[in-house]
Amino acid sequence: MKKLEMRDSVPGDLRAIELLYPEAFPDEDLLPLVRDLLQDTAVTTSIVRVIDSRIVGHVIFTTCGVAGKRISASLLGPLAVTPARQGQGIGSALVRAGLRQLKDKDVHFVCVLGDPAFYGRLGFLPEFSIRPPFRLPAEYDGAWQSQNLCDMGAAYSGELSVPKPWRQPSLWIP
Ligand SMILES: CC(C)(COP(=O)(O)OP(=O)(O)OC[C@H]1O[C@@H](n2cnc3c(N)ncnc32)[C@H](O)[C@@H]1OP(=O)(O)O)[C@@H](O)C(=O)NCCC(=O)NCCS
Repeated sequence: MKKLEMRDSVPGDLRAIELLYPEAFPDEDLLPLVRDLLQDTAVTTSIVRVIDSRIVGHVIFTTCGVAGKRISASLLGPLAVTPARQGQGIGSALVRAGLRQLKDKDVHFVCVLGDPAFYGRLGFLPEFSIRPPFRLPAEYDGAWQSQNLCDMGAAYSGELSVPKPWRQPSLWIP
């Protein structure tokens, strides 16, 4: 029987996580971002999916803010599932696990830049009041999304302020 586990990552997972990203993103080098984010455990939530002692999926949520507002926000990403295990519910389960943790920590809302066909199924909606840190090209219409985790609803507006690893235009603009 398969041994399944979903848990917060630990420093000893780094090597396996470093192998996962080039597999899941063969055309994109996300490792510098992932390494930087994992070093700053004060602002990141990092969850792994383990099957038979092997890490097959990983997601990071980064604590962010909105300039001038007392709001606790989070940015979802990167999210990766090893190709042989894609389409088996692992990516969705990782996102749901992160959202539960953030809700328990009283985070108000979570943003993501990604495919609405995937994230829409997980409760994300196009976001218009909170701006991403860089202006997105028109072809990304609908890809900037968010999900409220509390009842403050449409009370937010402004620019999402992200920590240094995310302040690189190449992560936002193709
Ligand atoms: C995107 C990714 C994280 C999804 O994880 P996953 O475990 O494969 O997805 P799940 O099994 O939870 O969800 C599967 C559903 O989402 C859909 N889906 C998966 N990836 C998708 C994508 N990039 N765009 C749109 N829909 C997607 C599948 O078609 C499937 O739908 P179905 O159940 O109707 O067949 C994973 O496929 C992956 O790592 N891809 C390569 C890296 C990547 O593109 N990451 C982008 C994150 S923004």
